[in-house]
Amino acid sequence: MAIERTLSIIKPDAVAKDVIGQIYSRFENAGLKIIAARMVKLSRAEAEGFYAEHRERPFFKDLVDFMMSGPVMVQVLEGDNAIAKNRELMGATNPKEADKGTIRADFADSIDANAVHGSDSATAATKEIAFFFPETQTYSR
Ligand code: PPS
Repeated sequence: MAIERTLSIIKPDAVAKDVIGQIYSRFENAGLKIIAARMVKLSRAEAEGFYAEHRERPFFKDLVDFMMSGPVMVQVLEGDNAIAKNRELMGATNPKEADKGTIRADFADSIDANAVHGSDSATAATKEIAFFFPETQTYSR
């Protein structure tokens, strides 16, 4: 399997519930190393820029408002098959459809406030990691 990097965001709802540590344990127990991290309060321009590809979708404004509603914890995860592995740990976008034991099933309340974001492809991962972290601030080990 290939060593990959992916961008993960713990969204404002999960940060407010004080479950950053529990979510980090899930990453580390699954073999995903946290190689960069920072807490950020996104501006409207940053949230709109990050989700630009969804600009035409009906929920765009709600999504941007939600992502600005409190601090988020942003991290780069690295490991075997990291992109798919993180998506598996996260569970389905709608927590009502997420498998038991996934992050969204355990910590998310609704499709609007769904606890975590994870890059959905290698192309997205490269772009999203660069959005938050210069290469010099990532620490593979
Ligand atoms: S995904 O996870 O990208 O496959 O899901 P997708 O359906 O394409 O959704 C893109 C992001 O929009 C969020 N989303 C919503 N936000 C608010 N309201 C509604 N109804 C809604 N539906 C989807 C979804 O959580 C995705 O955000 P991220 O941060 O990528 O998970």
